[in-house]
This record gives sequence, structure tokens and C-alpha cells, in this order.
Amino acid sequence: MNILVIGGGGREHAIAWKIDQSRIDHNIFCLPGNPGTAAFATNIPGKVTDFPLVKDTVAEKNIDLVVVGPEVPLVEGITDFLAAEVPSVKVIGPSKKGAMLEGSKDFAKDFMTRHGIPTAKYATFTGTSYEEACAFLDGMQPPYVLKADGLAAGKGVLIVSDLQEAKSLLKDVFDGKFGAAGDKVVIEQFLDGIEMSAFVLTDGKDYLLLPEAKDYKRIGDGDTGLNTGGMGSVSPVCFADEAFMEKVRKRVIEPTIAGIAKDNLDYKGFIFFGLMNCGGDPYVIEYNVRMGDPETESVMTRIKSDLLAHMIACADGTLADEEIEISDKAAVTVIMASGGYPEAYKSGYPILGHVEKGSMVFHCGTSFKDNVVVTAGGRVLAVTANAANIEDAREDAYDAVGNLFFEDCYYRNDIACDLLSLEGGDED
Ligand code: AMP
Ligand code: GLY
Repeated sequence: MNILVIGGGGREHAIAWKIDQSRIDHNIFCLPGNPGTAAFATNIPGKVTDFPLVKDTVAEKNIDLVVVGPEVPLVEGITDFLAAEVPSVKVIGPSKKGAMLEGSKDFAKDFMTRHGIPTAKYATFTGTSYEEACAFLDGMQPPYVLKADGLAAGKGVLIVSDLQEAKSLLKDVFDGKFGAAGDKVVIEQFLDGIEMSAFVLTDGKDYLLLPEAKDYKRIGDGDTGLNTGGMGSVSPVCFADEAFMEKVRKRVIEPTIAGIAKDNLDYKGFIFFGLMNCGGDPYVIEYNVRMGDPETESVMTRIKSDLLAHMIACADGTLADEEIEISDKAAVTVIMASGGYPEAYKSGYPILGHVEKGSMVFHCGTSFKDNVVVTAGGRVLAVTANAANIEDAREDAYDAVGNLFFEDCYYRNDIACDLLSLEGGDED
């Protein structure tokens, strides 16, 4: 079986690495991939949104299954494009309509409201209804949550406690702060709770629940400073116990999949549920129509069963026959970033060192320069360790980080620390 993984970050490295462990005979191609995937797959240079290139690659390499990593090609309709151009190829990733669950916050909120899925109360406004939006803000309690409707590379959510600042930021968004993504703005109630993420693979009827995870979005220790794509992750999440996850299944996941079927969203792929645990009840903060990064790096290392077999069943619509097996071990992922990220940073520094067996180094932003692996992004490496509990996994991950070097390297020191006190003695 020939598989094409679309994307070139740590998430795609981790997905391709997991596929590579399959008992099914396989060849993996990555577009574009990275020096990490080059160790076991064939990288094909190019852009993830170059649909003609994807089509030519599928034809030339006799690809049977395409796995789409990032949201942008999904929101731009890569799945519909492939269905029309190469109907025989199986695709993991929703249709353009299904991808609207991430591509438009207003669409997602309307979907959740219609299907009775718990989420923060909200209203949607456009630039022409600025005065109404301000009146709506006047009637709310701080902090105020403003969300650009469209894709904004994770930067489109503003949370402010001052009413005047909220109004002035709202004006900035309507005036183009996030480009066309801000033509509509969702204003919603602030949810006070602990955040975590649940992930499923669904064929539109049935689903497999993947290990849950928590990520660390801020650049600084103690959740301070600017927002990033994510500076680390941990799985499992001890406050997401069986009782909570049962609520997530019954109140969130199953109504979402039933809603997808009812609305004919044509969805075969991953769903990432951004959740807030508010006093033991789950609320959906957002849907993503892909896996998270760096959650995937922790999640993939905990899946024991054959992901490729699950994906084939997903594409064939026979996921009901599959069972996922998950390791009892904990996983902790620490991101090694370029100093300066998420603002300006320098690239091109050689990466040196190696880690002990048992830890994984997934490449996020690296490239080859004269056969040497060099830094090539804000987030450079995702270092993942698995151990009997979070404390040991954390220690192993940081030991591995300590054995890797590049100039200007920055990482958080407190990934998973908040869960240590919660973990208690009852590890699963
Ligand atoms: P999103 O892009 O929708 O995931 O939002 C980015 C981050 O903003 C989330 O991960 C949360 O930490 C925070 N956030 C979004 N919506 C809310 C809300 N209604 N209440 C509290 N925090 C929120
Ligand atoms: N780590 C958050 C995301 O992938 O959206």
C-alpha cells in the first residue's frame, strides 16, 4: 500500500512514524515531509496547497491513501478535489463542507447550537453591525472573548477584560487585523475551567477515541507571555477520568458525529475537540478538522494498535469493526523552539546531539543544508518520552532535550508540571 502524508511538521512526522509501524506492507511518501520523515519515507518537495502537484504525485506514485495533516488544504477543498480527479484514492480528511467546522467559527457555533452540543453562548457580527456588537458586549460580563470567524493560524482569538479595549479590538478586527478571516466575529461567553483536547478518527458514522491530551499554548513558564502553536503536550490528562470522558462521548462526540451525518458533511478523518472542563462538565471551545500539534506527538506514541489499518477502515466506512488499543504509559512532549518565537527568530543553525533509545525526536521546523540538519522554523523539534507515569515521562523528555543542541534554543521548563499534583496515586 502506498501512502501520501500531506504536511511537513511534527504532527505529520508523528503520523507518518506511526503509520510506518503498521503490519500492512507500505511505502510512505510525504509532501513535503522534513528531515525527520526522510529517515523512513520519500519526501516530495512542494506546497500542501498545490492540488495539481498532489494529484500528479498520487498518479505517479500509485498512492492508495492520502492522509491530510494541516487544516488549510482541507478548508480549501483538497478532499473534494481528489474525489473528483482521482476517485479511486482513499483520503483521510473531511470534505470542504466538513472542514467548515474549523474554517468558520460561526458555522461551528451554529452547528453546535442546532445539535445541542454544549458550548459558550455567543452571537456573530459583521463590520456593518459594529454598534450592535458593542451593545452585545455592554450586556456581557468580562472577560470578553472575540473570535475572528475564519482561519487565522491560531491567532484569531482575543480575550480581554476591559470593555473599551474589547470594543477597540473589535474595530481592529473588522478593519482587517486578521484579514478576511475577521469579516465576521463571534463574541462569546468566557468559560472558566481547565482545558484539554479529545481526538477521534471517524468515518462519519462510527468513531475511535484516541488518547486525550493537554497542550501548553503560551511561550513562557507558568502559562505566561504570547500565544504559540503549542510548546508541549501531555497525555493522559488525569482530570479527564472515565466519568468525564463518558460525558464527552455522550454529550459532545456522539452528537457531533450524528450532526455530521444529519447535515451530510461528508466527513472521514480526525476531529480535534478543544474542550473546557467547567466543574466536571465538558464544553466545546472549538473544533479542528485535523490532529493538533504538538498533541499528536504525545497521542501517536500511546496508540498500540495499527493506525494504518484504522485509517483504511475509516476511508472504507467500516470503522465499526475496528478497536483501538491504547498504552497505559504516559507521554510528555517538549517543544524546542528558536529563540524569539513566536515573534521574529533566526534559522539555519545546525542541530547537534542525539537522544537515548526510548525517547522520540519529531521534526517540526528543520531542513537539510549541505547534508546537515538545521533549524528552519519557530518550533524546531518535538521531543517525546513515554514512561509509567507523567513524572517519569517528563524527566525522560527533559533528559532528551538536554542532549540536543542548537544556537538560540528555547523551551519551557514546566510542561506537564500542573498535572503532577493532580496525578495522585491512581495512574491508569
Ligand atoms: P480557539 O482558537 O477557539 O481554540 O481559542 C484559542 C484559545 O482561547 C483556547 O485554547 C482557549 O484557551 C481560549 N478560549 C477560546 N474560547 C474561550 C472561551 N469561550 N472561554 C475561555 N477561553 C477561551
Ligand atoms: N496545539 C493546538 C493546535 O494544533 O491547534
